Amino acid sequence: MTDQPHEVYAPEARVDPYPVYARLRAEAPVHLIRDPNGIEHWLVTRYEDARAALADNRLSRDPKHAWEALRRSGLYPEGGEGSEPHMLNSDPPDHTRMRKLVAKAFTPRRVEAVRPRVRQITEELVDAFAPHGSADLIPALAFPLPITVICELLGVPVADRAEFRVWSTAALTPTYVEGAPMPPHEANRLLREYFTTLVAERRRALRAAGDDTEAQPDLLSALIVATTEDGRLTEQELISTAGLLLVAGHETTVNLIGNGMLALLRDRTQLELLRSRPELLPSAVEEFLRYDGPVERAMLRVATEDVEIGGTLIPKGSIVTVGVASAHRDPERYPDPDRLDIARGDRSHLGFGHGIHFCVGAPVSRMEGQIAVGTLLRRLPDIALDETAGPLRWRPTGVLRGLESLPVRFSPEPQRT
Ligand code: HEM
Repeated sequence: MTDQPHEVYAPEARVDPYPVYARLRAEAPVHLIRDPNGIEHWLVTRYEDARAALADNRLSRDPKHAWEALRRSGLYPEGGEGSEPHMLNSDPPDHTRMRKLVAKAFTPRRVEAVRPRVRQITEELVDAFAPHGSADLIPALAFPLPITVICELLGVPVADRAEFRVWSTAALTPTYVEGAPMPPHEANRLLREYFTTLVAERRRALRAAGDDTEAQPDLLSALIVATTEDGRLTEQELISTAGLLLVAGHETTVNLIGNGMLALLRDRTQLELLRSRPELLPSAVEEFLRYDGPVERAMLRVATEDVEIGGTLIPKGSIVTVGVASAHRDPERYPDPDRLDIARGDRSHLGFGHGIHFCVGAPVSRMEGQIAVGTLLRRLPDIALDETAGPLRWRPTGVLRGLESLPVRFSPEPQRT
């Protein structure tokens, strides 16, 4: 291994990482690679190993197991205390306790209740650009839809969404990425500050009202009540969990809509198939998550004992990264893996993770993805990539994969009155 960052971090791989992953997958099931901060980690490249690693309880999500290495990543403050104490940074039993409380507040009924609102927000956003004949789908739809939905679900002011966008992007961007608006730990601090104030306000309002979890108008109030009832989520955990839901609740869904639409716009046959058979939307969204999903690599794990992956011994204390995008193109798992096939109908991808950290927001994101793409194809039937806008730019995030912008053109819709 050289001192140089591995080629999965090269600018060309940001545009198209799949040829690199194909070679790595063919060469070996795991590779010891170095990120641009010099942090060594084992990248898992094949589907079966990736799935097993995500569910392996010897691979911890608690950063304290690799503290020194992680400090160098810049994701945590020098000399500071620990990481955000939320469920995605925890192992059982803390993980189990927090996840149960969130599940209690984030019920299927609460999710299903937002469906009409998701439709309405989508139609309004499309109304705003449909008469113009061209748009950039990222700022016009892919970003505002999920951030508005998660703000409304959580009960945080939508008016603050431009700030959230900055904090949330920064919280997920490693320090080796140039041009980030602020270091990740600073973004996390601002998010924490914001939610500390909001939780205090909401708690005051709750004292005046009822305290039934299910009856709460928003997720944050429901979480506060669930916490008070059971008394098992500390104030820090509550605030950190609210921040996690806000960040995880939109960054990824922006990319589901963006990458999914791009895949369709590049494959006219699949686009026409979906337009003529909208009943394929649920299957198409699963395929978007596999073919070019929002999460390129899962959050890193740390081996708490020696672990064998694909026949290689990974020593205790090593950092392990699951190559989700690589696993999704594994020919041993998917026939013709480099082909977009919206009728594949396979939900066993790892796009929402696997095991105890499986995504809490999967039902909301699936709903948003289906409604956004379905609405675009119905209202703008001849939508096409705007080739005059120059090469596509990909966001320089660490583990996520998404576009800066997605310029499209279409026949203008008459202005609605
Ligand atoms: C297309 C959209 C989304 C994708 C692709 C996605 C993907 C993922 C993945 C891969 C994980 C597991 C990470 C790992 O194990 O390393 C995860 C966990 C999580 N996601 Fe999502 N997510 C999406 C949307 C959402 C939404 C809308 C929310 C909240 C409203 C959300 C909340 C969470 C939370 C709280 C976890 C941590 C669960 C745990 O630790 O038990 N996600 N997500």
